[in-house]
Amino acid sequence: MDLYIGIDLGTSSVKLLLVDGNGVIKNTVTKEYAVFYPRAGWCEQNASDWWGAICAAISELLCGFDGPNVKGIGVAGQMHGLVVLDENDKVIRPTILWNDGRTSKETAYLNEEIGKGKLFEYTGNIAFAGFTAPKIMWLRENEPESFAKISKIMLPKDYINYLLTGTHCTDFSDAAGMLLLDVKNKAWSGEMLDICGIDESVLPKLYNSFEVVGRIKAELAEKFGINPDAVVVAGAGDNAAAAIGTGTVGDGCCNISLGTSGTIFVSSNRFSGDEKQAIHSFCHADGGYHLMGCILSAASCNKWFCDEVLGTKDYKSEEMGVPKEKLGKNEVFFLPYLMGERSPINDTDATGIFIGLRPNTTHADMYQAVLEGVAFAIKDNLEVIKQLGIDIKSSCLCGGGAKSRLWIEILANALNIELNIPVTEQGPGYGSAILAMIGAGKFESVKQATDKFFKIKETVRPHEELVRLYANRYEKYRKIYPAVKELYKEIKE
Ligand code: XUL
Repeated sequence: MDLYIGIDLGTSSVKLLLVDGNGVIKNTVTKEYAVFYPRAGWCEQNASDWWGAICAAISELLCGFDGPNVKGIGVAGQMHGLVVLDENDKVIRPTILWNDGRTSKETAYLNEEIGKGKLFEYTGNIAFAGFTAPKIMWLRENEPESFAKISKIMLPKDYINYLLTGTHCTDFSDAAGMLLLDVKNKAWSGEMLDICGIDESVLPKLYNSFEVVGRIKAELAEKFGINPDAVVVAGAGDNAAAAIGTGTVGDGCCNISLGTSGTIFVSSNRFSGDEKQAIHSFCHADGGYHLMGCILSAASCNKWFCDEVLGTKDYKSEEMGVPKEKLGKNEVFFLPYLMGERSPINDTDATGIFIGLRPNTTHADMYQAVLEGVAFAIKDNLEVIKQLGIDIKSSCLCGGGAKSRLWIEILANALNIELNIPVTEQGPGYGSAILAMIGAGKFESVKQATDKFFKIKETVRPHEELVRLYANRYEKYRKIYPAVKELYKEIKE
């Protein structure tokens, strides 16, 4: 039976899936790597760590399976990260990640001096600190010697595709997050390249996510024992790939991902922008478009609170410690802005906050508040989407957070929508394996593949009483940020 490898290059780890031609996951391997926070609000990773982890993982993934049966590879990746190579293909500096907030000056210049209207006309989006264009501008200003060496610019998963095939390529879904792409027309924006002071020759060639960009290099095919004819597709940004993995394709479907970041993704056949400019308008990996709200800290809040504050890795016990009768009645609130916040508030100065603590507050109340704060931050984005006239009644859910029953219940009730839980929560890895199948000629379109493979395990429905309680709490939650917004600026170092 033919086999396909789906790679999800995440922030805390890389997850590899081996999927057979019937869409059955045969093996999975996860490898973690380091995230560096060199200064407050900065976030970096070493591209060589990703490659080392992937090479080790491929060997493990194929152990006991027939490498020569591997027909295709697809990579999905954390979006927006700036990877820069010199003329000898050496990585110039550590990658500046999607949740790095160092570009507040460049972002303000873009939004205020160039102007949101012009940016929107050029790209379909406004500037957010994590996007790639402001990072290029930051590099030009702060590390001119690095900027001068740039021979190739690429996104994280494109670096992996470059090492796998030797092709300098990207796909429309990931390119859309650079703020260099005219999203509507799917072409690099000359105006944005001028603003950033770069030439189109340093940018990757654009492909559809399911298009073949090359074959695996002969030496790698030999090293891993993979079929040398295995194709590599352009792949996708992790959210677009997750949407493929959860069957969120075509018009008006929704997927929520609770990974390191949290996203709410609405697919569309046509380009449309958010006139309120609070959420993103990007290309989808199915050949269409999508709108997306992104919060910078979702499952990372859970991880932070358990690992750093409670000093435990036993997330399940913390979840079990929250009494059912406390749902919707917690007095503690948490703002999940551990890395500042992207949408809808676009504020790099924002930080996390607990409010409502009393002598009888338990750690379970605080844990519950963390999960609820993330759900409310996602709701902030859902509200923007609703104001655009889009009615969301149900959504798929994927990402590590989808393993938590408690979190699913909180989310379904806070958002007041039905949540469809897929058989596998591994959205991006599964999505990229599907893209590889299309590249290898197994399916003609993304829709044909997802119709065949995507399965819902369970639907979690909101309960009237909990919806009422959570609506009441959300009204209070949404007053906290405006009350501290100016204070954030004052207290920042
Ligand atoms: C999306 C975004 C994040 C990263 C996380 O705009 O920045 O979801 O892709 O991997």
